[in-house]
Amino acid sequence: MPSIRLGIVGKGGVGKTTVAGLVARAFVERGRTVVAIDTDSNPNLGLSLGLTLAQTEAIPVLPRSIIVGSGGSTTAERLVADYGRPTPAGPTLLSAIRVAEAGAGCTCGGHATVRGMLSDALSGVDVVLVDMEAGLEHLSRSGGTLAYADVLLVVCEPTRKSVLTATRTAALAEELGIPRTLAVGNKAQSAEDVEFFTATLNEGGLSLATVLPFDQQVARADRAGSVDATAIPAGLVGAVDQILDAVADAMSTAVQ
Ligand SMILES: Nc1ncnc2c1ncn2[C@@H]1O[C@H](COP(=O)(O)OP(=O)(O)OP(=O)(O)O)[C@@H](O)[C@H]1O
Ligand SMILES: [Mg+2]
Repeated sequence: MPSIRLGIVGKGGVGKTTVAGLVARAFVERGRTVVAIDTDSNPNLGLSLGLTLAQTEAIPVLPRSIIVGSGGSTTAERLVADYGRPTPAGPTLLSAIRVAEAGAGCTCGGHATVRGMLSDALSGVDVVLVDMEAGLEHLSRSGGTLAYADVLLVVCEPTRKSVLTATRTAALAEELGIPRTLAVGNKAQSAEDVEFFTATLNEGGLSLATVLPFDQQVARADRAGSVDATAIPAGLVGAVDQILDAVADAMSTAVQ
């Protein structure tokens, strides 16, 4: 199986980090080696992968504006070895952009490093997954952080605004040359919500990989500030499997 570079995007608060954690863990359960990169300036993917807040904050931040790969000063493999940290859920976690102090400057350099990492071969890794900060800037930034992604997962909740963001994202992704974008509906609480996703996303030309229900176990874990990294919540297993199947399907049909 070739390595998959997966970007997880969407409007603020829709569940990108939650979905990134679930998908990363599900790939590990299928026997894949996973590297997860957190590009949020307020990183919390570590929590979704079973780390404590202190452990998440102790992960060293990737150097900014590094040229990765041939002709560069380092390789993606070297960066994973030096900056990656193991997580209870299985994936190796990297932190690309952490803003620790006010006025620390723009984060473009961190995004450039991530783009370089995605462009470089990473032997022994099956899946590289990038949890993006909310917004569309990373798709329009010069070169685009996710320019080398194979598949984009755009997460939405059952609101018109998040679907609109998803549609705009898909258009930018196409311009950037990302071969395939899949929508993931999240936090559905009724058949009406599922119908909303199906109707609006299809209308927007997006293919819907699955709909994840609003899950009490996820909500409780969030409030408690600790995620059980040993298993995917029972109510979400089927939908998460559908995401992995849709990604595999996209990889086999996407034109490179
Ligand atoms: N399927 C779900 N069921 C219940 N709660 C959920 C679900 N998905 C996400 N949430 C909750 O929604 C909130 C936002 O989720 P999350 O942090 O994953 O979103 P995000 O898109 O990464 O946010 P941000 O834009 O701030 O990075 C969290 O409180 C999370 O626990
Ligand atoms: Mg997030």
